[in-house]
Amino acid sequence: MFEIKPAGALKGVLRVPSDKSISHRAIMLGSLNKGLIKVKNFLRSEDCMNTLKAFRMLGVDIEDDGEIITIKGKGKFLKEPFDIIDLGNSGTSIRLISGILSGQNFYSVLTGDKYLRKRPMDRIAIPLRRMGATIYGRENGKYPPLTIVGKYPLSGIFYESPKASAQVKSAILLAGLFTDEPVSVIEPSKSRDHTEKMLEAFGVDVEIDGLKVSLGKNRELEADMEIDVPADISSAAFFMVAAAVVPGSELVLKDVILNPTRTGILDVMKRMGVKFSVENEREVSGEWIGDIKVVYSENLKGVTIEGDIIPRLIDEIPVIAVLATQAEGETVIKDASELRVKESDRIKTVVSNLKNIGAEVEELEDGMVIKGKTKLKGGKVSSFGDHRIAMSFMIARLISENGVIVDDIECINTSYPEFIENLKKVLA
Ligand code: S3P
Repeated sequence: MFEIKPAGALKGVLRVPSDKSISHRAIMLGSLNKGLIKVKNFLRSEDCMNTLKAFRMLGVDIEDDGEIITIKGKGKFLKEPFDIIDLGNSGTSIRLISGILSGQNFYSVLTGDKYLRKRPMDRIAIPLRRMGATIYGRENGKYPPLTIVGKYPLSGIFYESPKASAQVKSAILLAGLFTDEPVSVIEPSKSRDHTEKMLEAFGVDVEIDGLKVSLGKNRELEADMEIDVPADISSAAFFMVAAAVVPGSELVLKDVILNPTRTGILDVMKRMGVKFSVENEREVSGEWIGDIKVVYSENLKGVTIEGDIIPRLIDEIPVIAVLATQAEGETVIKDASELRVKESDRIKTVVSNLKNIGAEVEELEDGMVIKGKTKLKGGKVSSFGDHRIAMSFMIARLISENGVIVDDIECINTSYPEFIENLKKVLA
């Protein structure tokens, strides 16, 4: 349970924790690499630590001196794990690692917590089987635990992904490192592109043609480099929304990743009338970053959020829904049925929590409609074991009349262990 005193304004400067997607990929690609990788500003959250532990179990020498993570990669071929690999709550870990294990000539079993074991894996198992891997799972191969019997070499694939999913795209590209045959993935709209960008930085040939990503001739990773992980826009989102809705706020979020496949929330904030500016833009480790200054914004307007922007803000929708309660008019979120298979069914959990605290909201099959300018009375809500639901409703707490009590907040550790500490710091 979590309760904080009625909020004052959010003030000051905050560097939220590092990007989760990039931290996972730094460990994974660093492990398949022939060379020495140093990762600076690695996100030491439960999800990313599960990825790190998994690669240690696969025989990779990874050192953590508390500041820098050093990965001494020996190349693509890993060691058969001596035990089941437990990936906790992390969908990115299990799906991307499945791609890598598909190309290994050994047997491995992947599992996770009770939430991960309910998340669909057929989206990666179907294309990976087509490439030649043997993958078993519960309910006809759909759910973890997954058993993977890999094979080298795999076959190539031309995969038209039914979803704009970076996890699906990445699993196929990573498996594609274990074949010389053509490998291409086309997605219906562009999902985050960190895997393809980082593969290129490691020396792999990647060709991008609109929504199609293909692997070229060189599929070996050979680099000695430092990866400096920027701050996660998905974590910054909670504070951007908080500063926009709490009167008197003025908050700077430093070093935030501004990769265009991730900045859908900034486009929406602009359309809704949030007052913010992006300063000090620069490139770090191949990613565009900057400092985002957000000030309290009156006269927010409801908007429709649909189509190609959805994958660019998919993880931010719970907190965007909280923002929408403060806008004039309706906010309609559509084309977001993927939310139903995230860490919780985020359409259901957002709608039920918003109703519990006095918002007017209607559930759609693929999204929700939020009536704005409702005074949030407050009440008791649950995280449903989902980190982003927990944090979104702690932000709702700041603008509620009687407070919001969020039950079961341990899950915040999956992506943002310092969340409460950081919130207290900017509220001080
Ligand atoms: C992620 C991709 C997204 C996102 C998840 C992280 C990644 O999922 O929701 O939190 O790091 O690849 P999908 O793109 O698979 O839907």
